[in-house]
Amino acid sequence: METTATKPERKKVILSGIQPTGVFTLGNYIGAIRNWKALQEEYLCEYFIADLHAITVRQDPAKLRRQTLEAYALLLACGIDPEKSLAFIQSHVHTHAELAWVLECYTQFGELSRMTQFKDKSAKHADNVNAGLFSYPALMAADILLYKPDFVPVGADQKQHLEITRDIAIRFNNLYGNVFRIPDAYIPKTGARVMSLADPTKKMSKSDENVNGFISILDKPETIVKKFKRAVTDSEMEVAYREGKDGINNLMTIYSVITDKSFEEIEQEFSGKGYGDFKTAVGEAVAEHLRPIRENFDRLMQDKGYLEQCYKTGAERALQISSRTLEKVYKKVGFLAN
Ligand code: TYM
Repeated sequence: METTATKPERKKVILSGIQPTGVFTLGNYIGAIRNWKALQEEYLCEYFIADLHAITVRQDPAKLRRQTLEAYALLLACGIDPEKSLAFIQSHVHTHAELAWVLECYTQFGELSRMTQFKDKSAKHADNVNAGLFSYPALMAADILLYKPDFVPVGADQKQHLEITRDIAIRFNNLYGNVFRIPDAYIPKTGARVMSLADPTKKMSKSDENVNGFISILDKPETIVKKFKRAVTDSEMEVAYREGKDGINNLMTIYSVITDKSFEEIEQEFSGKGYGDFKTAVGEAVAEHLRPIRENFDRLMQDKGYLEQCYKTGAERALQISSRTLEKVYKKVGFLAN
């Protein structure tokens, strides 16, 4: 009797990264890491701390080292399980910088000039508009394409970088055949752009000089509640999701993600109540949600040996996977095999 062996279906791959330039914010958590955790159940996930990207802005070396370890611990504290997923530090895996160089040669000056992040950061750091800041998207494309992911879960601010990654990959494939998988961005419907609490027209960012603008996921519960109580809203009295109510829309988005309530349910819950009650409720819900993360983080930082073991194993495995892609690329562009 003839049997037709069916090939086991390939598990879909997820990849994403985060810079170690400060404690992660509630924006990083809601826009990205929360989804990274959820995706682990269904996909093969690969997450890393993007320290190579961090030096496009001048960093204090000792501080960067400390923040990189803390960022790695935070990743695990947020629920990234190094037994299930790959969790590593970008500079430990040399293929990233190597593929970035090749991809830079397939990326145009014009397209890099159009990147809004480059325009923003070069305006902000006018005394250090370095080549790395400019070619940053080629390194990000390398990070992604090395692992052939299907989806890249990011917040809305990274959409343009995903688009250029796809453009570079398609261009390369057109020249050399099917080398790279063309990845899709995975941007959450709610919470893709969490705004500053101090200025809800601006994105919440860890580099904000005003500490009241962002919630760090390690902030103490009383600090979190205080920051939410101070959040800038509007002069109306109605908790409703509507155009022009940037502050309230932002708080409703945060509350909806954290409590799993719809906007209608939130509007009902606070109908007839003032902004004060609403802000306190959001602050308390966020503080409660982040409590176990802070506790996990404190525990993990007590066990540096464990963290080291995890990031070393992660880097070894990441190197194995990414080397296959890099070798193929080297061959395609014509480098003599060694
Ligand atoms: P980074 O470190 O700025 O941010 C990490 C993730 O958090 C998301 N994010 C937000 N989401 C919602 N609201 C906000 N206010 C908010 N702020 C940040 C970001 O969209 C991101 O998903 N270049 C990347 C890191 C990187 C990367 C990669 C990501 C390097 N290589 C490869 C994906 C794939 C960055 O600087 O993210």
